[in-house]
Amino acid sequence: MTKSKKAKREQEENHNIYAGLHEHIIPTLIEIMENKDQVTLLHSSRVQRLIDIMIPRLIQEKIIGQDEIPLLWVAAIVHDIGKIFVEDKILESENKLDKFEYRIIRFHPVRGYHLLKEFDLPKKILLAVRHHHERWDGKTHGRYPGYPDGLKGKQIPLYARIISLADAYDAMVSERPYKKRYLPVKALQIIQKAAGRQFDPKLVKIFVPVISEELKKNLKL
Ligand SMILES: [Fe+2]
Repeated sequence: MTKSKKAKREQEENHNIYAGLHEHIIPTLIEIMENKDQVTLLHSSRVQRLIDIMIPRLIQEKIIGQDEIPLLWVAAIVHDIGKIFVEDKILESENKLDKFEYRIIRFHPVRGYHLLKEFDLPKKILLAVRHHHERWDGKTHGRYPGYPDGLKGKQIPLYARIISLADAYDAMVSERPYKKRYLPVKALQIIQKAAGRQFDPKLVKIFVPVISEELKKNLKL
């Protein structure tokens, strides 16, 4: 099979996967999240929106192909699905979590990964879910450790590295019961500083300017 035929077949397969996912599995998963934890579902929708804003640059820089957009969308919307297994009193806690509660929360990528494996989702989505809390520098200790597997740099699957940025940004600009929100500009500065430490520096170079641009546009409204 020629290279172009192979690429075309892959593209069709991705399209079919998404069509199947979109029709049956994804709405079911979203409904499960909606019933359990609306905060997480709203967060996931915002993460998906932030990634949407990044997509034209990701394609332009040949980081992803056009045909990967649906997979990335699905990965974004389900990335925190493992939180459906976390007790409400931990998810909604207004206090700082204790060590035991942190351990439970930090297990959500693995729980999500195993759940989605049962639904036979594409590997790229499964790995994005499992690894969206890894750190670029591989650090597994300190205030913001990478987990669950301590992967480093490009060992971390691409979709997980993309989601990690949007995830961190949204967490920073959102008000939670236990913390105040950062202004978007401040959150972008923090992300910029964490390039090469928490985040993939090449992706930070895309994320920060495109989100800044978007903020400027919205400020004009
Ligand atoms: Fe998460």
